[in-house]
Amino acid sequence: MKRLLLGLIVVLSVLALGFVGNVARTSASLVQQIPKESKEQPKKVKLDTDSLDDKWGEVAFDHENHTIKNYTPDGKTTGTCIECHHTDQPKDKLTLPLVTSERTVALTADVLKDAAAAPVKGCRSCHLQAGDDSKPLPVITKDAKQLKLDNEVAYHTNCFACHDAAIKARPDLATKTAGSDPKGCVKCHVAK
Ligand code: HEC
Ligand code: HEC
Ligand code: HEC
Ligand code: HEC
Repeated sequence: MKRLLLGLIVVLSVLALGFVGNVARTSASLVQQIPKESKEQPKKVKLDTDSLDDKWGEVAFDHENHTIKNYTPDGKTTGTCIECHHTDQPKDKLTLPLVTSERTVALTADVLKDAAAAPVKGCRSCHLQAGDDSKPLPVITKDAKQLKLDNEVAYHTNCFACHDAAIKARPDLATKTAGSDPKGCVKCHVAK
């Protein structure tokens, strides 16, 4: 009887573990993985799920918040798509160090409704992760030096510039997110 009970407990725990595993898998598959390019705007995504860093893992990014809500530094307006998707605007609108243009009109949600519109390339399709040598990294000249823009440099530069300005304008935001603050990593990255 005791053995039977023990056996039953083992079977039940295996089933329970399987169930928990399934739930974990299901919620993981609900998180969008980002294709190289797409015309579909992501909603809530996890960036850097493949982070190579020992300490800092994935970053949650709410694309919907950043496009629909008043996420400019002063909190009074919605930003523009090209603030982040900098290559998706006409060449004559670019200011240095930006020179690369891949769209003749500035990207908006409406631009993508046109069946003929080209898809939006994810940042990673140009700003490759360290160690990926499949093509040359974008380079700019900064403080008279050549700066290679891998994924870490590119995303950090983009995210930090706006977050620093927003926290400067509204110091209470520092409880919610971070910019270049060296102690702010954990506000974006999951610690490994
Ligand atoms: C089609 C390739 C491409 C895509 C897609 C792309 N970039 Fe870039 N990025 C570049 C190139 C090339 C440069 C160097 C400047 C130039 O040529 O315009 C650059 C420069 C930058 C810079 C430096 C600008 C500065 O003022 O210091 C940042 C930051 C940046 N990209 C962030 C991003 C982010 C964030 C995304 C995605 C939302 C992205 N990039 C998507 C190619 C790309
Ligand atoms: C705060 C920065 C930011 C703003 C503003 C922004 N995006 Fe994005 N967008 C991103 C990031 C980051 C990704 C994820 C791609 C990646 O990491 O490579 C993305 C992905 C996308 C994708 C999918 C690309 C792919 O590779 O699957 C589309 C489409 C897109 N954005 C359209 C837009 C449009 C349209 C707007 C304006 C209404 C906009 N975005 C505003 C940062 C931004
Ligand atoms: C144009 C400005 C701007 C850019 C660029 C930007 N953010 Fe934000 N972000 C904000 C503002 C403003 C808030 C705080 C909004 C609030 O709580 O009122 C915020 C909040 C956040 C939060 C807290 C959760 C949330 O969605 O409110 C995270 C996480 C975040 N940003 C990640 C990122 C990442 C990652 C990038 C770069 C890919 C990025 N942001 C680029 C303006 C920006
Ligand atoms: C505003 C949010 C934000 C903050 C704050 C932030 N990061 Fe990041 N970090 C990102 C994003 C977004 C990426 C690139 C995502 C991608 O490539 O998909 C990234 C990439 C990285 C990478 C590259 C990982 C890899 O192998 O792809 C490292 C390392 C890193 N961050 C370290 C840090 C450290 C250390 C801090 C604190 C000093 C920090 N980050 C603060 C958003 C942030």
